[in-house]
Amino acid sequence: MKHSLVIQGKGKQGKINKNIYGQFAEHLGRCIYEGMWVGEDSSIPNSGGIRNDVLEALRKLSIPVLRWPGGCFADEYHWKDGIGPKEQRKRMVNTHWGGVVENNHFGTHEFMQLCELLETEPYICGNVGSGSVQEMSEWVEYMTFDGESPMADWRRSNGREQPWKLKYFGVGNENWGCGGNMRADFYADQYRVFQTYVRNYGDNQIYKIAGGANVDDYNWTEVLIRDAGRLMDGLSLHNYTIAGSWENKRPALGFDEAEWFETMRKSLHMDELITRHSAIMDQYDPDKRVGLIVDEWGTWFKSEPGTNPGFLYQQNTMRDALVAALHLHIFHKHHQRVQMANIAQMVNVLQAMILTEGDSMLLTPTYHVFEMFKVHQDAEVLTAYAEAGAYGLNGEILPQVTLSASRQTNGDVYISLSNIDPASGAELELKLEGLSQLGEISGRVLTSDHMQAHNTFDQPDLVQPRAFTGFRAAGDDLLQVELPPLSVVVLKVKTA
Ligand code: AHR
Repeated sequence: MKHSLVIQGKGKQGKINKNIYGQFAEHLGRCIYEGMWVGEDSSIPNSGGIRNDVLEALRKLSIPVLRWPGGCFADEYHWKDGIGPKEQRKRMVNTHWGGVVENNHFGTHEFMQLCELLETEPYICGNVGSGSVQEMSEWVEYMTFDGESPMADWRRSNGREQPWKLKYFGVGNENWGCGGNMRADFYADQYRVFQTYVRNYGDNQIYKIAGGANVDDYNWTEVLIRDAGRLMDGLSLHNYTIAGSWENKRPALGFDEAEWFETMRKSLHMDELITRHSAIMDQYDPDKRVGLIVDEWGTWFKSEPGTNPGFLYQQNTMRDALVAALHLHIFHKHHQRVQMANIAQMVNVLQAMILTEGDSMLLTPTYHVFEMFKVHQDAEVLTAYAEAGAYGLNGEILPQVTLSASRQTNGDVYISLSNIDPASGAELELKLEGLSQLGEISGRVLTSDHMQAHNTFDQPDLVQPRAFTGFRAAGDDLLQVELPPLSVVVLKVKTA
């Protein structure tokens, strides 16, 4: 069947916040250690201990913001263990993730160095669950104070003269669970106290993010925004896309169409979650000053057989690519409230951009979606809607096609499209209303013949974007597009 899609060039609606393309890196499994940090003495080429191959690939994503050090790890992390000479740093047990030794070789200075190399804004998550107000306050002082003070002097003695710029700071993580098992009222009070001592030094202005709800815990959002809303800039939300159940997750590979369908349905549920959390926030914050920060999202499958289950290592297929496209389209749609999102996680953990094995690395299908979609970062949102057909299985239906469009300051329009049907292509009639004269059109596509398609260390380029030519102009403002089955496409339309 034919699908009718409309994109409107008139009427200003604001921007897609580039921070929606944020990443998350936790001290978990092989995300930091091996995945990024190999140490200065490694035989893997590195820049001050950070591996060059991974750095180079990540730079191509134009990552706007990077969240660290957790996750659940954040509420067990004591930052003072991770500064000073490496051989003297405390060795601790990473109790939450695999019970392995954490040697603290990657600490504040190394994280800030990583952000500088990636030209990324740091987003640091502080410890509420097992830390103190003083510890959190001193961390901010250590990083951002320019004058004479115990923490600033200590930073200098550790080799960093100038303070760093730090904008994003999270006051705890999942404090309803691994971050202290708190009730919403209790955490709201804790938040009020802790954030008081997260100071702005000099011209460094901190954007404070409160630990938010799990999935559909609307009560948590209500209590936080009601009782502490005026003291925060952002409120987080976590939701993972799980095939199967939390207790019995299905694997990343070897799935059938029913699991594919279930994964797409659960991804699309993010729209409802954001709509309902936002509606609560609107009651207390009608001007949308406080951002909804979706700082953990992505697929969570059963860990790869033969790996430490506490390391959350999973393969990444065309299914993940579609999950990424659906989520990014949903975040674009909610651009007025969703000010940041951070996919979990950047390397070797959950829905990763990159997988590594020794000195080899590969780019995942999810990486390619982030690379193709980066053109939307900070671009002007255009109204886009679809009268699209359905993709059905076993009596259930989902929208087959999703889309989003944005315009850059030079007038170029980018249209991203996804087709979740693994067997049927989609014929689109794309009407471009109110755009100035259409010029050259080009496109890229990420697709495969198989739902399970993924890159391996033997075949790292099996899934990668290719030039897309399945479109033709059918009038001044009409494009006909043939979307292949299970595909993600980005079209670039030049306007005069
Ligand atoms: O991303 C993995 C874990 O998921 C994080 O540590 C935690 O915040 C969430 O439960």
